[in-house]
Amino acid sequence: MENNQERGQWNDKLGFLLAVIGSAVGLGNIWRYPYLLYKDGGGAFLVPYFIAIITAGIPLVLLEYGFGHKFRGSAPLSYTRANRKFEWIGWVPAFASMVILSYYCVILSWAANYLIKSFNFGWSADPNAYFFDSFLQLSDGPFSFSHFSWPILIGIILIWGINWYYTYRGVSSGIEKVNKFMMPTLIVIMIIIVIRGVTLEGATLGLNALFTPDFSRLGDIRVWLDAYGQVFFSLSLAMGALITYASYLPRKTDLNNSAFITAFANCGFEFLAAIGVFGILGFMATQQNVPIDDVVTQSVGLAFVAFPQVFNLMGAFWGKVMGVLFFASLIFAGITSSLSLIETFTSSFIDKTGADRKKVATVAAIIGLLLSSMYATGAGLYLLDIIDHYVNAYVIVSLGMVEAILIGWAVGASKMREHANAISYIRLGSWWDIMIKFVTPVVLAIMLVLSVVEEVRNGYEGYPTTALLAYGVLMIVVLVVIGLVLSKRPWHDPRMVEHSGFEHDYYQTDEL
Ligand code: ALA
Repeated sequence: MENNQERGQWNDKLGFLLAVIGSAVGLGNIWRYPYLLYKDGGGAFLVPYFIAIITAGIPLVLLEYGFGHKFRGSAPLSYTRANRKFEWIGWVPAFASMVILSYYCVILSWAANYLIKSFNFGWSADPNAYFFDSFLQLSDGPFSFSHFSWPILIGIILIWGINWYYTYRGVSSGIEKVNKFMMPTLIVIMIIIVIRGVTLEGATLGLNALFTPDFSRLGDIRVWLDAYGQVFFSLSLAMGALITYASYLPRKTDLNNSAFITAFANCGFEFLAAIGVFGILGFMATQQNVPIDDVVTQSVGLAFVAFPQVFNLMGAFWGKVMGVLFFASLIFAGITSSLSLIETFTSSFIDKTGADRKKVATVAAIIGLLLSSMYATGAGLYLLDIIDHYVNAYVIVSLGMVEAILIGWAVGASKMREHANAISYIRLGSWWDIMIKFVTPVVLAIMLVLSVVEEVRNGYEGYPTTALLAYGVLMIVVLVVIGLVLSKRPWHDPRMVEHSGFEHDYYQTDEL
C-alpha cells in the first residue's frame, strides 16, 4: 500500500476548501456567467441555474469528493480500485484536463500581457482592432498558422512556470499555500471591482438589465443547456480535479459540508462577478449613449475588447487601476483553477508509475508548454474556440454522465452515501441516490443528444468540417485511445489495485 505522506495531504481543512474553491472559481465565473445570466432571461435564469446546481452540481461534487476520498487516488487509480475495467475512463479526465490547460494557460498569457498594457492603455484607442489585428494577428482560418507571437509565448512560459513551481512543491507546500494567498486576494480584488463598478454613472442601467426577469426564456431548451453547462464547467466537474483533491484529505473529514460550501462559494463568486461586470457595462452604455444590448458580450470579447474600451473611458487613474485589478483577477482565478487541472494529470502518473512528483511535474509542464505554444500562432483563437467547444460540450458532459452511471450503479450510490454520511455532519438522504442514478445521467444524456443534433444540423460557428474533425473529433478519439492504451500498462506496485471494495481501509492519517 502506498505511503500517505508520499501522496501528499492538505495541512488543514481551510487549505482544502480554498483549493477546491480555487479550482471552481475561474474564467468561467468572471467572463461567462454574467453573460449567460443576462442573455438567458436575467433573474429568470436563476431558476434553471439553481435547478442545475441541485440536480447535477451538488450531487456530483458530493460524488467526486466521496469517490476520491474513499478510494484515495487520482482519477485512474480511484476508478481502478472501484473496478479494474474502469481504469481507462479515469485516464480520460487526466488527459482532458491537459487539453483544457493547453488553452486555459494561453488565455492567462493574454491576461498577463494585458495586465502590463493596463499601465499605459497599450490596447490603443480601438481595442477591437488592436486585439485581433495587432495582438493576436488572427489569420484567415484554422489551418493558417501564419505567424508566431513572442509576447504570447513569453506569457505562456510565465504561466506554465508558475504552474510548474507550485505543482513541483507539492500539495501542502505548493498548491495549498498559493491558494491560501491567491483566493483571499482574489476576493478582495473582486470586491473592489464591484464597489467601483456599481458606483459608476449608469451602473443601475446594467444591473436592471441583468436582473430583470424574462420568464419567457425558460421555454427555450438552450437556456437549460446553458445552465447545466455553466454549472459543470464552473464547478470543475468531471475534470478529475475534485476527485484528486479529495484524495488528499485525511480519513476523518466532513465531506458533505465541504461539498455544500464549495458549491455555494462558487455561486456567490459568480454573483459578485456578474454585479461588477454589469455595473461596468451599464457605465459603458451610458457613456456611449447606446442600449445595454450593444455593449454586452462574453469571454474574449468581454475581457479583451469591451473592458479595455471601458477602461479607456474611465480616465487615466481609474482606467489603469481597474485594468490592473481586472486582469489580475483573471490571472489569480485562472492560476488556482489550472493548478487543480495539472494536479489531475500529475497525480495520475505519480500513482501509476511511482515516479517522483518533481519529475512528473516537470514533464507535465514541458508537455503543457509545447501544447500551449500552438495557440501562439495566428490560428490560435480558432484552435482555442474549437477545442474548448468539443471538450466542454462532449468530453466533460460524457464523463459526468459515465461517472454518475458507473459510480451510482456499479459501485453503488447508497454505499457511497454511507461512506460520506459516516464522517459528515450533514447526512444525505436517499434523494441523493435518485439524483446520481437517474436525474443526473438523464439530464446529461439529453444535453449530449441535443448538442450532437445541433452540431449535425448547423455545424459550429461556421468552421469548416475538416477543422472540426481535425481539432475536435480527433482530439476526442485520441483521448479515448490514450485511456485504453494506458489501462493496459501495469501499475508500478500491483498491490495498489488489489483492494477493490469498501471493506478495505486505505487510510492511516488523522482528522483535520
Ligand atoms: N472551474 C474553472 C472555471 O470556471 C475551470 O474556469
